Amino acid sequence: MTEAPSRLTLRRPDDWHVHLRDGAMLQAVLPATARVFARAIVMPNLKPPVTTVEAALAYRERILSALPDGAQFTPLMTAYLTDDLDPAVLEKGFRAGVFTAAKLYPANATTNSAAGVTNLDTIAPVLERMEALGMPLLIHGEVTDSAIDIFDREAVFIERHLIPLRERYSGLKVVLEHITTAQAVDYVSGRSPLLAATITPHHLHLNRNAMFAGGLRSDFYCLPVVKRETHRRALVKAATSGEPCFFLGTDSAPHPRAGKESACGCAGIFNALHALESYAAVFEREEALHQLEAFASEFGPRFYGLPLNSGTVTLERTPLDVPARLVGPFPPSADEGPLPDDQAPVLFHGGDTLPWRITAISSVAQTGIA
Ligand code: DOR
Ligand code: ZN
Repeated sequence: MTEAPSRLTLRRPDDWHVHLRDGAMLQAVLPATARVFARAIVMPNLKPPVTTVEAALAYRERILSALPDGAQFTPLMTAYLTDDLDPAVLEKGFRAGVFTAAKLYPANATTNSAAGVTNLDTIAPVLERMEALGMPLLIHGEVTDSAIDIFDREAVFIERHLIPLRERYSGLKVVLEHITTAQAVDYVSGRSPLLAATITPHHLHLNRNAMFAGGLRSDFYCLPVVKRETHRRALVKAATSGEPCFFLGTDSAPHPRAGKESACGCAGIFNALHALESYAAVFEREEALHQLEAFASEFGPRFYGLPLNSGTVTLERTPLDVPARLVGPFPPSADEGPLPDDQAPVLFHGGDTLPWRITAISSVAQTGIA
């Protein structure tokens, strides 16, 4: 066994799947993502969803204006697919550099997905257009059939929908988002340069027991729901494997405490505050810290055909106490008061100690760093 390093400098990473929300929540959570990640694929499941080029441009502007002074961060916008989205709208947005990708939510699969797609056949013209354009399709891969056990919905989606979809549109670039099962790992692994998957920190840390440890733990509830330990192990193996089809996407999905801690708690885990440190803990446990940079900073841009970032992030092996609550923008700014406690997002790892902490971030290339 080799001695673990105590300091790690990575190329600045990107987050290939994040929910930044809007309004006060956007103000509160954006600094956490923008501090560490140079770019992020921003999910379009707002109310109402982002279905036009104009809406995406306006949302991008709201994100840019919510950035802390000096932040170097580029939001990459996505279009929310509906049954009747015009392929010409997608093409216009993609060609104009407004839409980087389009997101497929099966209708009612998750938060704000009611306007999603009810049947893949209805969006055939959209998928054909995306295939022709080389525009990536980002998929929430779960069936919505209530007869299917919730723990099986991803595996059934792959069999029923993803395999036929990829046969029909063999040139389509696809990202299966936030994978949670060994079946997804097996399906994506080594299959095609046109197929990739994102993996979240929470699906690497949690198995389904965590949701029921000592009571009903809404803080660990997200969709797709966390699975058995065998699946978590398969995800850890995939993320740390050095296979370029698996890359970082936090699926950080903040909800106000009042929304999560209610009789019908919302799905979503807000992990953006210490996402990179959270991944580092997993990679270290796996003795795979040498694979972290590729997973976090290289495989995503390569898949999307974007340049690698030039800045760096330095992590040191010094314990980090994660606060129990996010009480305001992070890092806190003078002009924003703390969020009321019931409106603040519940934090992943809140109250825990993580082994690595970020000690330096630079948005330009550094020389002379080991
Ligand atoms: O847990 C989740 N939360 N999964 C999703 O797919 C959506 C997200 C959200 O927007 O809250
Ligand atoms: Zn998501």
